[in-house]
Amino acid sequence: MNECSPWYRVCPTDELAEGGFIEFTLTKGNPDNQTMDLRGFVFRRNGKVYGYLNRCPHLGIELNWIPGRFMDTDNCFIQCSTHGALFLPDSGECIAGPCQGEALTPLEVAVSRDSIQVRRPE
Ligand code: FES
Repeated sequence: MNECSPWYRVCPTDELAEGGFIEFTLTKGNPDNQTMDLRGFVFRRNGKVYGYLNRCPHLGIELNWIPGRFMDTDNCFIQCSTHGALFLPDSGECIAGPCQGEALTPLEVAVSRDSIQVRRPE
């Protein structure tokens, strides 16, 4: 897997435990042309692996303040740390907050015996 591949290797499959989150950087930003890092995260919930860009649809900023911490206190919804928007984990749809009706950007996830990969967005 190289930088030209559409697939980005996130981690070994057994590194993502049930309920766990792993963050990663898909592309590095460049201050010279005012681009930010493109970051994402994967998590395992009820045995399935999901992936999203780490970007709130409200202001386009990252969802979490604490590394690996994305869920609300009841562990039911992904929650934006800035204004509290709540997102359904399995679809990314925002069900409460300032971006209600919008959604997180999903990443196509491929899980093999060896690794978890996501397809880079175009
Ligand atoms: S930036 Fe996420 S809800 Fe406002």
